[in-house]
This record gives sequence, C-alpha cells and structure tokens, in this order.
Amino acid sequence: MSTIPSHLKNVDVFISEEKIQSRISQLGQEITNDFAGEEIVVIGVLNGAFMFCADLIRQIKLPVHLEFMGASSYGDGTESSGQLDITLDLKKSIEGKNVVVVEDIVDTGLTLKYLLADLKNRSPKSLKTCSLLHKPSKTQHHIPINYLAFEVEDQFVIGYGLDLAGKYRELPFIGLYRGE
Ligand code: IMP
Repeated sequence: MSTIPSHLKNVDVFISEEKIQSRISQLGQEITNDFAGEEIVVIGVLNGAFMFCADLIRQIKLPVHLEFMGASSYGDGTESSGQLDITLDLKKSIEGKNVVVVEDIVDTGLTLKYLLADLKNRSPKSLKTCSLLHKPSKTQHHIPINYLAFEVEDQFVIGYGLDLAGKYRELPFIGLYRGE
C-alpha cells in the first residue's frame, strides 16, 4: 500500500488531475476556435500560472508565442497585501498582437486589474483573460474572465502551481490545506 508523503498529510484533493486536464482540453479548444487562423501571444503570470500555462498551450492548436510576467500581491501570507510587485516584464512587444493573459487564480481581482491596465497601454490587437480558478465571493475589482476553468468558494487552495508560502506548487492536483 502506498503511503502519503508526510508533507501532504494536511492536504485533501479538491480538484483531481483528471478533472483539471479535461477542463483544460475544453478551454484549449475554445481558444483555438476563437482565434482560428491567427497567432496568439500567451502571457503566463508567474509564479502560480506556470503549470496551467504549460498544459493549456499544448491544447491550443494555433501558433503560440509564450511570454511570462512576474507579479505578486501576497508576500508569504494568505491575504492580499493590496500592493502589486512586477518582478518580471515581457521580452517582446505585444503591439498589434492577440494576447491571452493566463492567471492561476483571480481572488480580489487586483492583480488582473493592474496587469490589464498595464498591457492595454502597450496597444495589443486584442486582450483576453484566462484563469484556472476564480473566487467570486472575494471579488473587489470586477474584471471579465474570458476563459475560466473552475469557480471555487472562499477557501485557500494549493497545488497545480498555487502555493502556500512557496510550498505545494508541484502537486498535479488542486488541494485544500487543512492547517497544522
Ligand atoms: P488577487 O490579486 O487578489 O486577485 O489575487 C491573485 C493572486 O493571489 C493569485 O495570482 C495567487 O497568486 C494568489 N492567491 C489568491 N488566492 C489564493 C489561494 O487560494 N491559493 C494560493 N494563492 C492564492
């Protein structure tokens, strides 16, 4: 019988690997249909969206130029600090391009609001948003999410790119942390 590694004893599976992958395949299909015959720039927001982004672009059957931006509003805690740090910027211009920004989770909406305002100023042809998760009950800034994988309640989730103080990003599923 396999044993659960000790660092996962306080983690429950919330959204399984299979569910995530099947939803991503649908989203990839939607994006492929919406941009048929065009190229897109996918911007993954680091660190949380790296895994989602990697799986999503494999399901987009179009030419994709991948970029990353680094942004953080949480420090080491579980509540937003209300300030956004841009830690990494784009390498190439997005002027005249179709852009899809890929987030791990939209919580208050602050991160996405800030990023969208910044990216709009760079004159893309189109600008769409995609997020793995959304917590509607926590929304403070109403930003449309054009491609959303799952809605969740106001619970702190980890895994599949999402962290708690830098831990648990490597999990292939989305989990709930039960505390110490
Ligand atoms: P927002 O700016 O409040 O929308 O927060 C967005 C960012 O907060 C996300 O990109 C995550 O990095 C982080 N975040 C929000 N909720 C969670 C959570 O439940 N687990 C892990 N990270 C979270």
